[in-house]
Amino acid sequence: MKRWEDNEWSSSMEIKIDLTYAMAEKLGDDRGISPAEIDQLTDRITSIHQQLTEGRKSGRLGFYELPYNDTAGILKTAKMIRNEFKNLVVLGIGGSALGTIAIQNALNGPFRGSREDHVNVFVTDNVDPDYFGSLLETLDIKETCFLVISKSGTTAETMSQFMVVRDLVKKSGGENALSRQIFAITDPEKGCLREIALEEKYTILTIPPAVGGRFSVLSPVGLLPAAVMGVDIDEMLAGARHIDKKCADPRLWENPAYTLGAVYYLADRKKGQNILVFMPYSNRLYSIADWLRQLIAESLGKKYSLDGKEIFVGPTPIKALGTTDQHSQLQLYMEGPFNKMITFFRVQSFDREVSIPVAFQGNDALNYLSGKDLGTLINAEQTATAIALAQNGRANITVTVPSINPFTIGQIFFLFEVTTVFMGSLYNINPLDQPGVEESKKNTYAIMGRKGYEQRAKEISSELTTSSNFIL
Ligand code: PA5
Repeated sequence: MKRWEDNEWSSSMEIKIDLTYAMAEKLGDDRGISPAEIDQLTDRITSIHQQLTEGRKSGRLGFYELPYNDTAGILKTAKMIRNEFKNLVVLGIGGSALGTIAIQNALNGPFRGSREDHVNVFVTDNVDPDYFGSLLETLDIKETCFLVISKSGTTAETMSQFMVVRDLVKKSGGENALSRQIFAITDPEKGCLREIALEEKYTILTIPPAVGGRFSVLSPVGLLPAAVMGVDIDEMLAGARHIDKKCADPRLWENPAYTLGAVYYLADRKKGQNILVFMPYSNRLYSIADWLRQLIAESLGKKYSLDGKEIFVGPTPIKALGTTDQHSQLQLYMEGPFNKMITFFRVQSFDREVSIPVAFQGNDALNYLSGKDLGTLINAEQTATAIALAQNGRANITVTVPSINPFTIGQIFFLFEVTTVFMGSLYNINPLDQPGVEESKKNTYAIMGRKGYEQRAKEISSELTTSSNFIL
């Protein structure tokens, strides 16, 4: 029996959300949220719940069903990669990269790359030539496979990287090496990457059509690289299924995604806390904060409401690391504007215990540390910070993660995906699109000379040649 099939183990691994220091009882009515304010949303939440359930059933909200998919095909491909290659380079950006980076940092450990039986996984997520070029310089191309991930199949960053590595693979191993060393994850029906992959006979896995990039971590997008790393992806999906039972509950206070989403929403709209700080007290969870930034920013930052009105909404998500940023950001959070809602992630039980030796017992400045361990210290600092912030009227929430494993990471992904689409309904916007990034993409096409963008290129050129008095 897998450990996640044991109910006792699964229950002991449930993540817990503590809203105490976001509530009016602790912070007062100006800064904290009262249960009555949350209850006032009940009617809206009932109808939102119906919409989400309907979206789930119809397949429009495709991410909901990802935890229930069969992983056999993914595991087979991962095994093949593990048997044949030393390195896997993931070419993708945004939703095609951030989930994998979060999984890698949380579950693969920062220093495991040197293990003999281990495939080194690199996720590029940018086209910085120094960064990408230096990665390629360090790799033996023949021992490396490349996983191109693009739902649209046209993203400039991903496809340019793909074109670079395709050429390298061809030069090092000939035409036949392409189908051996390049793998693709893309739309099941359309797109330029799909056409090329079929033509050149790459192994192809697909992203379900109704799953957008930032909601795709529990699809092959995140699961294939995770399985190559040796992460138990079935356990990760089991974690997502576990919390799904709660996130599907129509009762507001029984549903952690709805309660959390309602608190974030009210914090923004009623208390002026429109900056969401995600602050794990764990280096391994730090990249989850990156994943969350994208999920929230791209999903909720919108100009138009669903009925076409200009509304300009969306909380600003930022990330911080405990304890590191106690020595960088905390002063601002504690004494600056009252515009932040901080979410801490706290690990109950770390994998390692690093004891602080008994020493300096005659020294009052150090003897309280003597004989303790670093896990106790980091958690004491998190508790101390949460309380101190609350004492200063600063709203904060603590998510306790019993330990970092695939089951708990699966819960975090799923919980925040549901929270985000739920908040989308509260803000009355579409959380699944990202029209705001299109203009910049089109300008890039024009600057880079893509056919069909000639007029835009002229406009940009005249914009760039107009003299400005503000260049210093
Ligand atoms: O969440 C999203 O939809 C985006 O961040 C995309 O993942 C990102 O733009 C990459 O798109 P694609 O997978 O089409 O290359």
